Amino acid sequence: MPAYDGHMALNITGAVNPELLDLPWSTPLETWPDDTLAALPRGISRHVVRFVRFNGRVLAVKETVGPIAHREFDMLKELGRMGAPCVTPFAVVDGRVDADGNELAAALVTEHLQFSLPYRALFSQALRSDTLDRLTDALAVLLVRLHLLGFYWGDVSLSNALFRRDAEAFSAYLVDAETGDLHTHLTPGQRAYDIDLARTNIIGEMFDLQAAEELDDAVDPLELGDRIEERYKELWSTLTGKETFKDNIRYHVAERVKALNELGFDVAELDMTQTGDGRELSIRPKVVDAGHHSRRLLRLTGLDVQENQARRLLNDLDEFRAVFSPDEDESFVAHEWLARVFEPTVRAVPREFRRKLEPAQVFHEVLDHRWFLAEKRSDVTMPEAVASYVKNVLPNRPDEQAVLGQAIGAEGDAETGTETRAIQAWQLPRSSPRITTGTIDTGTSTEKR
Ligand SMILES: Nc1ncnc2c1ncn2[C@@H]1O[C@H](COP(=O)(O)OP(=O)(O)OP(=O)(O)O)[C@@H](O)[C@H]1O
Ligand SMILES: [Mg+2]
Repeated sequence: MPAYDGHMALNITGAVNPELLDLPWSTPLETWPDDTLAALPRGISRHVVRFVRFNGRVLAVKETVGPIAHREFDMLKELGRMGAPCVTPFAVVDGRVDADGNELAAALVTEHLQFSLPYRALFSQALRSDTLDRLTDALAVLLVRLHLLGFYWGDVSLSNALFRRDAEAFSAYLVDAETGDLHTHLTPGQRAYDIDLARTNIIGEMFDLQAAEELDDAVDPLELGDRIEERYKELWSTLTGKETFKDNIRYHVAERVKALNELGFDVAELDMTQTGDGRELSIRPKVVDAGHHSRRLLRLTGLDVQENQARRLLNDLDEFRAVFSPDEDESFVAHEWLARVFEPTVRAVPREFRRKLEPAQVFHEVLDHRWFLAEKRSDVTMPEAVASYVKNVLPNRPDEQAVLGQAIGAEGDAETGTETRAIQAWQLPRSSPRITTGTIDTGTSTEKR
């Protein structure tokens, strides 16, 4: 009897790319051949997840039940449309059958988030406490941003987020939206429930690491659980809290907006209410999406980078403007800065090193390096700094394969030393030239935030 033609029953929703049909959908994901797969670090999950090379990019494929895959696909699509930091859905594949006609699980396909790492990939000997603090803070920012959009997550944890370097900090992206729900507004109770889950899950994740002796002794799981709650509450009240002023109201409003912009948030509206006797004014900002700096940079230069990187680049741009043309139009100076400072710096990195870091991160690091050199001599120029950076810092970085070569955590295919070596670099102290992981993409980042 001829083998059942599994392709006949396939149903693809989402991607307009017919080549998706060529992937081996009639075999379980677990048995897909190595030459289809991209070995990238992967977090822990209940479902089988694999990364697949596809037309020069990488896709993440997760096997799950059909209706759940469709629901998660729709949810991610909607979140992306609203500007939430999350992975981008690509397709849902269902109606899969094997060669004998047996049904196979449906698959949710998302685009692999470039330069991202699951938190468990951030080990050296053990996950250090300051790295964990930064990851927790990034998760708190992500949770606040999602809540501002009315998204109730339902399963907040470090495992369900991905992390990318963002200057000195990390930024977190939602990867697992399976349990989430969108509402017009979240009630305080819904938000509290998510915070509580975040706290419980992080504590659980830390106890797991502790049991596996992969946690620095200095880390107290309970403290870290408390930290996410504190950070969340602090940020939420700064962003949405109501303040009352008696005098100098314009100044206070401007200060409040400035403080929110500093945090990277935009203010869409201010609710202003006058008190009964008309002598006091209450303001409550309606904060929209984070990303004030990256939007300003995008508007001025066309560079699409992450928030802290954007803040750093804008500082340099503002400094450039102050020194060279304080009275000139901002967007004109921005083009000057792009052509005279940013582009020459990034182009000075030899081609063979370019796949190691995003250009904006390179620029950020060269600025750091110039700072480091300036301890000995104060007038270090950017060309000097980049030359020294290329000569003294970049060659010490691990080869990209160190990161690309491994999968972690899931289904017992644990990592070996190579990845560990690369990741350690994220945790070196500030003052020494740091080695960084991160790969792919040589041009300007086009990553959607
Ligand atoms: N688009 C993507 N880009 C990068 N990594 C991804 C992507 N999609 C999934 N992953 C990796 O796969 C892991 C598992 O994905 P996910 O959390 O969606 O699976 P899950 O089985 O639903 O998890 P859970 O056990 O929480 O239900 C993530 O932690 C992440 O490391
Ligand atoms: Mg998950």
